[in-house]
Amino acid sequence: MQDNWRQALHLEPPQGWLNDPNGLCWFHGFYHVYFQYCPTSAEGNGDKLWGHYRSADLLHWQFRGVVLHPDTPDDRDGVYSGSALVQEDTLHLFYTGNVKEPGDHDYITSGRGANVIHVTTHDGDTMSAKSVLLRNKDYPADCTQHVRDPKVWRENGAFRMVLGARRRDDTGAVLLYRSDDLTHWTLDRVLTSDAPFGYMWECPDLYAVNGVRVLSISPQGLPHEKTRFQNVYQSGYFVLDGDRPTTFTEWDMGFDFYAPQSFVTPDGRRVMFGWMGLPDIDYTNPTVARGWQHCLTLPREVFRDAAGHLRQRPVRELDALRAGARPLTDTTLSLPFDLEAQAQGDFTLTLAHGLSLTCTGETVTLTFTDASLGGGRTTRTALVPDCRTVRAIVDRSSVEIYLNAGACVFTTRFYPASDLISLQSTGLTGTIWRMNGLEVTHNVP
Ligand code: FRU
Repeated sequence: MQDNWRQALHLEPPQGWLNDPNGLCWFHGFYHVYFQYCPTSAEGNGDKLWGHYRSADLLHWQFRGVVLHPDTPDDRDGVYSGSALVQEDTLHLFYTGNVKEPGDHDYITSGRGANVIHVTTHDGDTMSAKSVLLRNKDYPADCTQHVRDPKVWRENGAFRMVLGARRRDDTGAVLLYRSDDLTHWTLDRVLTSDAPFGYMWECPDLYAVNGVRVLSISPQGLPHEKTRFQNVYQSGYFVLDGDRPTTFTEWDMGFDFYAPQSFVTPDGRRVMFGWMGLPDIDYTNPTVARGWQHCLTLPREVFRDAAGHLRQRPVRELDALRAGARPLTDTTLSLPFDLEAQAQGDFTLTLAHGLSLTCTGETVTLTFTDASLGGGRTTRTALVPDCRTVRAIVDRSSVEIYLNAGACVFTTRFYPASDLISLQSTGLTGTIWRMNGLEVTHNVP
């Protein structure tokens, strides 16, 4: 029997609540993964702090505890999301200090301070004093007080920062700032779509993958469609034509994906972690009753295929966790496992007699046929023309399914009663590997 759904392959908090990945980087021989953390409440009812995991190889992780608390007037109501920049022997961290004034406010156009705060560290754990780089007065007059989530990088000798914003006319935008010294920042441009695209763009990230420049955002307020934008909020990327956001593609079509952030590995791969969860959801994750909620996705490499399209794949480091291989047949398997399969046409893959992936023509659906397995989730649909390959990494309470070599991904939590689950498929041939878990220690120094 499985009664706690603790993940084996995904980073999750020892107790309490986790949301966005923050401050992702490689620094002084370690990958650093900071995250939005509320240790005192599994439902996230409390101030947000930054928790910290680090790893030399993406397989052995150490939880290093809380590294940033809301302990100044400029971040007293939350150390919100932000990013990392490595410069020689210093790690620079940038985040949003959230401030809520007492009184009768809507906290959109009044009552909120959104400060960009800068700290430095030499070991990833011990932080310098905090200094405020930007305040409400530094943002364009047409913005509300929802301006947050600085992502900073260096390009052509200058430092750049993107911030997500909600404007007064309820359209989302990204503010692009520029600095020569990391201290003084000036607004360079405002990036927005030709037609309005939601009221708020959270967690922006801007980068190029082999010459394709993309603006990743988590937009709020998009109308739901049958095969797109099915979750409460979305997450995806615009391809940029110069500064102009053009086509938008969702990163993930499953139930549980939001607020991704990327960084570059020492060997030059663009790797992204997402939050395997969403705010304001209308379903219940049963781990809450056990004292914690949410995890990050697997680290995923974002790459360009031969035709120039962006794709995602689990980082190759995870292949080292594969144990015995065997052909894909209907069977019972212990979690976690990894599966690679080929399809010639329509196919189905059913896990634990209650979670089914079905490809019919160009339509792929992920459906909980057993409601108890999904904690309230129902069905998600995507258009995947000519779907020929399936890679599924199934952890103790989640699946990440990469279709057509990472052209379309479905990520969702599921809660099987046992960590021995059934697998049935039609129309697929392939291989299954047992997986060893990550090694995670919680020795807070
Ligand atoms: C995204 C987000 C960010 C914010 C953080 C607060 O999930 O709302 O915009 O900085 O979470 O935890």
